[in-house]
Amino acid sequence: MPITTSPSVPHARLLSIGGARGSRVVTNDEMCQMIESSDEWITQRTGIKERRWATEDEDATTLGVAAARKAIARSGLAPEEIDAVLVSTISHFQQTPSQASIIAEQLGLPSPAAFDISAACAGFCYGVGLAEGMVRAGQARHVLVIGVEVLSRYTDMSDRSTAFLFSDGAGATIVGPSETPGIGPVVWGSDPSQSQVITIDDWREDRGGEPPYIHMEGRQVFKWATTFIATQAREALDRAGVAPEELDVFIPHQANNRITDSMLRHLKLPSDVVVSRDIVGMGNSSAASVPLAMEALLESGEASSGQTALIIGFGAGLVFAGQTVILP
Ligand code: ACO
Repeated sequence: MPITTSPSVPHARLLSIGGARGSRVVTNDEMCQMIESSDEWITQRTGIKERRWATEDEDATTLGVAAARKAIARSGLAPEEIDAVLVSTISHFQQTPSQASIIAEQLGLPSPAAFDISAACAGFCYGVGLAEGMVRAGQARHVLVIGVEVLSRYTDMSDRSTAFLFSDGAGATIVGPSETPGIGPVVWGSDPSQSQVITIDDWREDRGGEPPYIHMEGRQVFKWATTFIATQAREALDRAGVAPEELDVFIPHQANNRITDSMLRHLKLPSDVVVSRDIVGMGNSSAASVPLAMEALLESGEASSGQTALIIGFGAGLVFAGQTVILP
């Protein structure tokens, strides 16, 4: 007996973008009161001058909701037109309910599909890849994708290998149907042999009241990012049929300006391609970094709607995902 399948649509695109940053600005000088370091070292090694942390009354829910409200308002959609909510995060404190369900409730969405994705700093690009497939396959018409982190709450502020890097924020987009191609094929994967390179402590361990902390083999991630990830970024361009000289904007995960520089050398992008350096004022906000960087470029006028952009995320797992998109 044949069964009916979902009617598919030809293309999907990003309809809008919205972001929210932790309200507290933390300079390198303030950071250096907690760790033995210097503004000079942090700036030279990463590009970071300051980062944003959540205040006491901010968390993954408030930041995620604020970013989502902006994205919904900018899309012109009514909340009830959102069929699915995907939240990428590694900083949700509860195993269940999902962060997506909590945010959906706060947004007053009636009955969306709702689930979380754990793909660390690649999480937003994983979400866009999934949402694009869902929309084209007719499984959902409008998918709200949110990347949100409050990694300051998982950071050991005396650990000078991680404390200065991470930040808190959320970025959201809505993926919906389109007459023209708006999201290229996702290039994604993982290196399971490096699963222990970035970890957050096991909740079951007794740490005397301390929360689970993030740990990272920075040099190992750096090496992987500057060698393997650059080739994957090129693949995301190639698979979308976009030559480097046709690209307008490059938005890599904001992990380290030296990683971005290395990718630029590998990709041989023309000098007029706009490259995000959002890390300078934001640090590494993991799943939120790509959408926050995208929003910042659009708001400043450095990039504009309709331009072609390459986005790529990489991080704990180790995992990566990237695609070529048309900016909303
Ligand atoms: N201040 C001053 N000196 C420092 C600091 C600090 N905060 N931290 C380390 N050092 C010292 C080290 O002790 C070392 O000294 P030594 O040479 O005498 O031994 C020296 O500086 C160099 O240390 P490295 O660890 O090699 O520093 P590196 O240049 O690699 O920079 C960093 C560290 C910024 C973490 C870099 O490795 C990096 O960006 N890695 C990638 C991070 C990343 O992309 N993560 C992915 C996403 S995270 C996620 O998924 C949640």
